[in-house]
Amino acid sequence: MLNVIIFGPPGSGKGTQGVKIAEKYGLAHVSTGDLLRKEIETNTHFGTIVKGYIDKGELVPDATIIEILDSYVDKLPVGQGIIFDGFPRTVEQAQSLMNMMAEHNAQISILVDLEVERQELIDRIVLRGKTSGRSDDNAETVEKRLAVYDEKTKPAVDFFDNLKLYKKIDGNGTIDEIFGRLCDAIDAVK
Ligand code: C5P
Ligand code: MG
Repeated sequence: MLNVIIFGPPGSGKGTQGVKIAEKYGLAHVSTGDLLRKEIETNTHFGTIVKGYIDKGELVPDATIIEILDSYVDKLPVGQGIIFDGFPRTVEQAQSLMNMMAEHNAQISILVDLEVERQELIDRIVLRGKTSGRSDDNAETVEKRLAVYDEKTKPAVDFFDNLKLYKKIDGNGTIDEIFGRLCDAIDAVK
């Protein structure tokens, strides 16, 4: 069974590539950002809580996000491979994910980390903001999201590197070029 983590800063292309990888390899695309936004759209109690974090570019607390992810993954068919997009965002989330996989007798096959230069990330997000309708896709919030990424999310790289699951990918170029690099990395562990 193939289980992939697509990793990288905001604007690096996790969502775009995650959808393509899910389709090619028959994986469930589990985007925690999408799950959170769905809670907000449907006006759940939970949505009102997470909206505050998203709008500020901050992270939803580990315990909360882990609970959402857990309950979503539990509903997937047994043996269904997954591509995790936007999770883990902290070392604690990484640890929880490994525990969760072990409980399901499953393993993470690879973490692919999309590397894109900072100014390119900002440009992409500001451009995306014109059509995405996302409250956090703007020049001000992106600065905060990038700072949170550097401080809280990047340390997870070492966690996966130590487990020999880490693979850096050049995230520059066309969607198809980047997709080709990701597929090469995934095919090498499949
Ligand atoms: O992954 P994505 O960029 O779509 O996430 C958007 C926002 O959702 C993040 O900036 C953060 O506020 C929230 N989020 C989170 N914890 C996660 C994933 C997303 O707090 N694991
Ligand atoms: Mg995304």
